[in-house]
Amino acid sequence: MNPVDVVLLPGDGIGPEITQAVTRVLDAAGVKINWVPGLAGQSALDAGQELLPQETMDAISRCKIALKGPCTTPVGKGFTSVNVGLRKAFGLYAAVRPVRSLPGVNTRYDNVDLVIIRENTEGLYSGVENEVTPGVVMSMKVATQKGCERIGRWAFRFANRRERRKITVLHKANIMKMTDGLFLNCAADVHENDYPNLQFETAIIDAGCMRLVQDPGQFDVLLLENLYGDVVSDLCAGLVGGLGVVPGANFGDEEAIFEAVHGSAPDIAGMNIANPLALLMSAVMMLNYLAETKHEPHFAECAARIRDTYDAALQAGETTKDLGGNLGTAEFADALIRRIGQG
Ligand code: NAI
Repeated sequence: MNPVDVVLLPGDGIGPEITQAVTRVLDAAGVKINWVPGLAGQSALDAGQELLPQETMDAISRCKIALKGPCTTPVGKGFTSVNVGLRKAFGLYAAVRPVRSLPGVNTRYDNVDLVIIRENTEGLYSGVENEVTPGVVMSMKVATQKGCERIGRWAFRFANRRERRKITVLHKANIMKMTDGLFLNCAADVHENDYPNLQFETAIIDAGCMRLVQDPGQFDVLLLENLYGDVVSDLCAGLVGGLGVVPGANFGDEEAIFEAVHGSAPDIAGMNIANPLALLMSAVMMLNYLAETKHEPHFAECAARIRDTYDAALQAGETTKDLGGNLGTAEFADALIRRIGQG
């Protein structure tokens, strides 16, 4: 088979270090990918380009798939977030973040196996903010019937295909009766009309968060609007070892961008201590997606090999500092590559 073109955006901060570690591991596993490099974020500005250069957008339009490192959005006026920009431009309305307990990573729980599905384009991230009068500013929360139905259908289809048993919507429809009410009702309608075989549950988000930290094993798939999904993703990362171990993917009807949940971590950039695992796990999600969409078992085989390899490394205590180990970013990649070579 011919290698598949995938856009690679190393991003900013720890992005280039972890991206390099991940591509080295994928190369060692013999993955048939042709990386198409691109710039986004601060690194694009530093190169004298736009935050999201047209060349990068064209490459994603052509390849339909990208692996992305975290990007820094400069604080201040005039810059919209790179991530929000990409999600809007390509209609990447569904963010998927699997959160599972990992072998050898000791946390309070050993039974976490959740999938967070976040609506990625509406809510308070619609970017509609204004100054009503000096000293009074407002941000508008937007929910559309089309957007709410779309993510509801996407979430139930995903849960059904992956043989998950239950979807829980976390919401605040008791206060935001119109916006969260619409989100909730659309999900309930999809359940009733199309997927009565799955369990459906709703919980007010504050009480839902308490239940999550008390007993995450009671949840399966969580469906949330944009802001809640953002916050709850990091909360759930804390249940399984932190931001270094939670992957993610953003899906539209045509394009898909795979990236870790964490940001560019400027506090540890360039120190060779960042954990590349979340991006590597995102790459494994990407390989499984390629296997499904291109009907190429090669990608699923590589995904399984890489996943078995990092599970074994974690079990043996070969980890970066954030997980209690003593390996640097590059050394962790070396350890995985050694294991792939032995396997
Ligand atoms: P962050 O996720 O970058 O960092 C939060 C904390 O987690 C820091 O202490 C950091 O050192 C640690 N951390 C994050 N990833 C890690 C890893 N792989 N290994 C070890 N430790 C890790 O969040 P923060 O500081 O709020 O944001 C920094 C920048 O990242 C901002 O410019 C923000 O806009 C951007 N960002 C980008 C995202 C993306 O491109 N997908 C997502 C979230 C934030």
